[in-house]
Amino acid sequence: MIHVHILGSAAGGGFPQWNCNCANCEGLRSGRLNARPRNQSSIALSTDKQNWLLINASPDIRAQIGAFSPLQPSVNKRETGIRAVLLVDSQIDHTTGLLILREGEPLSLYCTDMAYDDLTTGFPVLNLLQHYCGVERHTIAVDGSSFTVEGIDGLVFKGLPLCSKAPPYSPHRHDPHPGDNIGLWVEGSGAGGGKLFYAPGLGMIEPHVKAAMEAADCVLVDGTFWTDDEMSRRGVGTKKAADMGHLALSGEGGMIQHLRGLSARKVLIHINNTNPILDEDSPERAQLAGEGIEVACDGMDLEIGA
Ligand code: MLT
Ligand code: MN
Ligand code: ZN
Repeated sequence: MIHVHILGSAAGGGFPQWNCNCANCEGLRSGRLNARPRNQSSIALSTDKQNWLLINASPDIRAQIGAFSPLQPSVNKRETGIRAVLLVDSQIDHTTGLLILREGEPLSLYCTDMAYDDLTTGFPVLNLLQHYCGVERHTIAVDGSSFTVEGIDGLVFKGLPLCSKAPPYSPHRHDPHPGDNIGLWVEGSGAGGGKLFYAPGLGMIEPHVKAAMEAADCVLVDGTFWTDDEMSRRGVGTKKAADMGHLALSGEGGMIQHLRGLSARKVLIHINNTNPILDEDSPERAQLAGEGIEVACDGMDLEIGA
């Protein structure tokens, strides 16, 4: 069985975002909205509930560890339940937390060559870490080969190249390469092992992505935006969801349509603070419920497999 703990279910900025007065952020602050605050995008995964793989390191990691005791020290003077960190891309919301982990042992880090390039050039956080804990880096290939993670027993992983977006500081922002963004396929070994597909940033459902979603017991995927023009609708920006590498949930060809008919448990993650689904009383949230689609919240546990 795969145990997944949701550490942060929001997109970059979190919910509420520090400088945002959109209807959602204002509604949450004032208490008028039936919604929960959310930290930035990160999950932890384990088979034994003692040894955890941190997938994405958000700027909120300190609070996220504080809220989840299995990641905290229990016996020794310096200790962590985090055995390794895996990154699905080099975005700020997924990588800034690496700096917060600098006081520990060398970080065992799994990422693609493309993410590694970004994190040693445009956003050289891994260079900085050499002056603190240091990094022991493992390559995630995007050629369909599988890999295991040291310290995490009973799981096999695959990095699936996705059409999404490298961050603005990446040399690949306007020159996409396979591995700028990946979805993660996780499979437990043995009977009842469980199959998870995780992709918090997903711009297009290509055939290999659809196949993974169809084969999974649980899909934990991009729920960033309800509509492509949500930022302008909410009066907080002009960027389109597609410009940022996210497929909107609603409409023709949207994520909801792709989730329809899957036998997997369907959970949305990486929710932007502008998204109407954060309002638990909204018609959009009711529509998701009707489709059998859940919305991840911080602290949620998913048990995948028997
Ligand atoms: C994204 O996935 O597009 C990010 O959440 C943007 C950001 O972190 O600023
Ligand atoms: Mn993001
Ligand atoms: Zn907002």
